[in-house]
This record gives sequence, C-alpha cells and structure tokens, in this order.
Amino acid sequence: MPEAIFQFPRGFLWGSATAAHQVEGGNYNNNWARWEETPGRIANGQRSGLACDWWGGRWLEDLERARNSGQNAHRLSIEWSRVQPAPDRWDDEALAKYAEMLRWMTRNGMTPMVTLHHFTDPLWLTDSGGWENEDTPTLFARFTRRVVKALKDYVNLWVTINEPNVYVMSGWVDGAFPPGKQDLKLAARVMTNLITGHSAAYRVIHELQPEARAGIATNYRSLIPAHPASPLDKLPLGFINQVFNRAFNDCLVDGKLNLVIKKLNLPEASGTQDFIGLNYYTRDLVSFELFKPGAFFHERTFPAGAAVSDSNFIANVPAGMWDGLRWAHGFGIPIIVTENGIEDSSDTLRPRYLVEHLHQVWRAANFNYQLKGYFHWSLVDNFEWERGWTQRFGLWGLDVETQQRSRRLSVDVYERICRENGISSRMVAELVPAIFDNLFPAH
Ligand code: BGC
Repeated sequence: MPEAIFQFPRGFLWGSATAAHQVEGGNYNNNWARWEETPGRIANGQRSGLACDWWGGRWLEDLERARNSGQNAHRLSIEWSRVQPAPDRWDDEALAKYAEMLRWMTRNGMTPMVTLHHFTDPLWLTDSGGWENEDTPTLFARFTRRVVKALKDYVNLWVTINEPNVYVMSGWVDGAFPPGKQDLKLAARVMTNLITGHSAAYRVIHELQPEARAGIATNYRSLIPAHPASPLDKLPLGFINQVFNRAFNDCLVDGKLNLVIKKLNLPEASGTQDFIGLNYYTRDLVSFELFKPGAFFHERTFPAGAAVSDSNFIANVPAGMWDGLRWAHGFGIPIIVTENGIEDSSDTLRPRYLVEHLHQVWRAANFNYQLKGYFHWSLVDNFEWERGWTQRFGLWGLDVETQQRSRRLSVDVYERICRENGISSRMVAELVPAIFDNLFPAH
C-alpha cells in the first residue's frame, strides 16, 4: 500500500507540558504543600515530595529526553512562591534557575512556553485571602513584571493563568483543591479577580515585550446531552457550558462576564488574549437530575463504548477534541493545544488516544484553523494534585522512589509524529495497528 501522511503545518510546535509543583519537588512554601499536610485531602495521604526532582537538577535529563525524541517545544510553569518567598522578598537565584532552563531550551532547538500561575499560590498570599482578596490581581501583575523582565530574552509565549475555570471550580465549588470551599458567591469573586489579574498581567507582558503572545489555558470539557431529544438535559448542560467552558475567554474578548445568574462588566479585560490555549481531555454526557441541586441538577457519565483510563478519570473521545477546536476557532485567533493526555500506567490506551486526538487536530489544521502547536500532558509521570501519585500521565514513566524513568511505547509514537511533522500510515501500521483501518480506511 502506498504511504499516506496526515501532514501538519510547517513550523508546528510539538511539545509536552509540565507544571512547577508537579515536577520540581521541594515546594513547601505554597498552598498545596499545606493542603498535602491536611489529612484526607490527597489520595492515600501522598505528597509531592521530591516530585520529579527538577529543582534538584533533573529538569535537564527530562528536557534532553524530550529534545532527543523529536520535541521542539516545552511548556513549563514558574512557581510564584520560589520567586517571591515573602511579600517583601524576591529570590533572584530562583529566577536565574528558570532562566537556565529556558536558555537551555532555546539553545537546543526547543521553543519555551511559560505559565505564570498553575494552580499554586505562595502561602503568604493564601494567608492574606489569596484570590478572594481584591489586592491579589495587583500582586500578580507585580510578580509577572519581575518574571517577564528576567525571562523575556528566552520566552515569547506566555500563559498567564492555567485553567482558571478548574482553579475556581475545584477550589470554591466542589472543594477538591485548596481552600476546599463550596461557596458560589466567593467563586464568582475569585473568578472576577482572576480575570482582573490576567488582564493586568497581559498588559505588563505587552509593555515589557511588545512582540510576546499571551493568553490563558482553558480546560474545555466536551458536553453532550445524554438524551438528545430531552430539553431537560439541555438546561444544566447550557449552564455548565457557559460558566465552565465559555465565560472566562468570552470576557477576554468584550469585557463582559456572563455567569448566567450573574453578569458583570470588566472592561479592562477586553482584548486581552493573543491565542486560545486549549486543554482538552474528555467528554461527558449530561443528564438532568432533579434531586441533585448541589450539582446544578445534573449527572455526568462517559459515552457508552468509549475506552476509559485506569482510574475512570478520562474516556477516550477524540470527537470531543474536535468540539474544543471548533470552540477555539470561533475566536478567530491562533490556537495552541496547551494540554491533552490520559492517565495510563500500562501505556495500552495512550498510543491510541494520542494518535486519535492528533488526527482531530490535523483535521482542524486542514480546515485552515490557525493551529500553532500541541503540548502533550505530560512529559513524565508527575504529582497529580488531589489524586497524588495514583495517576500516570507521562510519556515516560517515573518510579517515584528511585527517580528512574522508563520509556513508554507512546514516546516512540510521539517521536515519529514530531519528526515527520505528521501521522504517517507506516507509523500507525507499525506502532498502533489496532486503529489503522479507522485512520486509513481502504474504501
Ligand atoms: C491540569 C494539570 C493536570 C492535568 C491532568 C489539567 O487540568 O492543568 O495540572 O495534571 O489536568 O489531571
């Protein structure tokens, strides 16, 4: 059979994504360190501990792994509590260490993307109310100024805040993240402050580095009515879709925050995103549940027949990636897939998940969507927040005790895709034959 290839645009960024607290180790001065010490908060009482020991120097071997396996980009985050350990103290050595990582990347053919806030807050900030406090956006802008001044020679792509929707939902609605509250009023306030903080950071970035590109990364959940004919399912679905998927990015377009039951004007937010960062993992079927008012009258299930990850966290539904891409395309600005991945310790589902999701990304690129890159979550197994070490998202496996890395089949798959800048029929036939006929049908 002649070879076929789903070719990606020239200059496409192929990378993986990590976050400071999940990989660095030794982060004891932030709200997650405290959360990890609180009994019952993390699965099996686990701690981030040494994590992947990046702060101890293993960032280099992991980034070498990424580079040597064809990746030309990497997304990492800066730990605020390292750079500003106390309100009146800045740690230039910490910044120098981040500069070293980024310099290494740029000298070794990897484009860095840097996230300024990925779920963690310094303890001193938490103790003064964190993002519930209306002074926090100004403090975040000050932190951004310091970081951008120090790192702008190496970075062009900035994510101000990772998944503000998840940060709010998990911290103030379902309570799985610190501060573990369930308070919708406070949730709306935090969301407002995050938007104001993002807007201020966006302006600081452009003031210091006019050519930079800045945006947020949104966790986009594909939502489908469980009973397509039922108008009832559409009620909670419409609400969640608006508040979780759409509200934040829409506000960065026109300064109007629409939380359905509350509408606010935040004019300073308008025009503050240069790209859409799309984090897509899975899809839910949503059904109306009269007796679940606390869950906004809904229940979610995974689509029947979809393969599901180790701990039932993610279903393999590539069509949902297409939903996310269409949503992102609606903004008319470049799109970067800033996260996508699955927890799979045996790496049996990941190769397929990876290829099938990238096939959707390829489709979008060929509809002329402005797709600029894809960052797989994640490079190496790392600390999965309230789920501790129970989930394995890495292309490389990690033995947490010995710090040994193990190369998974998915690395071979991703390496071929990165190097060929496409998904070739030969690669699929060799490495993921089970999906060959779906991807390259004979008729
Ligand atoms: C977060 C990551 C997390 C991943 C997998 C995303 O929501 O940005 O920090 O590890 O999902 O759970």
